[in-house]
Amino acid sequence: MSGNKVGIFDSGLGGLTVLRAFDEICPSADLVYFGDTARVPYGTRENAELRIFAGQNVDLLRRHGASGVIAACGTVSSLLTPEEFASFDLPFSGVVSAAAAEAARRTRTGRIGVLGTAATVRNRGFMKDILAVRPEAELTYMACTDFVPLAERGIFDADDPELAAAVDRYLLPVMDADPDVIILGCTHYPLLSEAIRRVTGDVDLIDVSREAVRAYCS
Ligand code: DGL
Repeated sequence: MSGNKVGIFDSGLGGLTVLRAFDEICPSADLVYFGDTARVPYGTRENAELRIFAGQNVDLLRRHGASGVIAACGTVSSLLTPEEFASFDLPFSGVVSAAAAEAARRTRTGRIGVLGTAATVRNRGFMKDILAVRPEAELTYMACTDFVPLAERGIFDADDPELAAAVDRYLLPVMDADPDVIILGCTHYPLLSEAIRRVTGDVDLIDVSREAVRAYCS
C-alpha cells in the first residue's frame, strides 16, 4: 500500500477520532498517525508556534511515508489559510471546512454554536466557511479550555463530576443563545459527546472528525 499513505496528526489522542471515522467510513485507507503528546495542548498556544508545529508534523509524517496529510486538529485547521494549505509539498487538508458546510446545511434557524479551543475561537474557525453558505448565520463561540486536558487524562465518563461541571460551565451559556446545531470543533470533543449531549439534548451535534473523513473519502 505504499504511495497512498495518509498521514494524520493532532496534539494528542483527539485525532484518533479521525482514525475511528476512517475505520467506519473507508477502512481500507492506509494511515500513519502522529499524536504530539509531548506538546499537548495546542489550543492555548500562539499562532506562530502552531504554524511551526504544523510544518514539523507534516515533515515527520512525510518521513514516515505519508503522501498526503490531514490535520486532525481543529486548532491548526482553523489557523492555516488556503495558501498555507497549498504551500505544503503534498496534498494537505483539515477538519474545518466539511463540518462548517454541514452545519450551514443542517441548521434551520441559522443559530450555530461553535465549541473549540481558545486558539480556534480567537481565530474564528469555521466562520468563513459557514457564512459562505449561510451569510445570515449567528454564531455563538465557546472556548472549552478544560476539555482537552480532561480527555487526555482519559476522563470521558458522562457521570464524572469534573467533566459534568466543565460541560455545564461551557455549554449552558451556549444553550442560552438557542442554537439548533452545535459544532464539536475540536477532535477531542467527540470523545466527550455523551456528557455534552446531557446538556444539549436534541440539538444537532456536528462531529468534525466524522465530517472530515466523510468528505475525504467521498
Ligand atoms: N484536538 C485538537 C483540536 O482539534 C487540539 C486540541 C489541543 O491540543 O488543544 O483543536
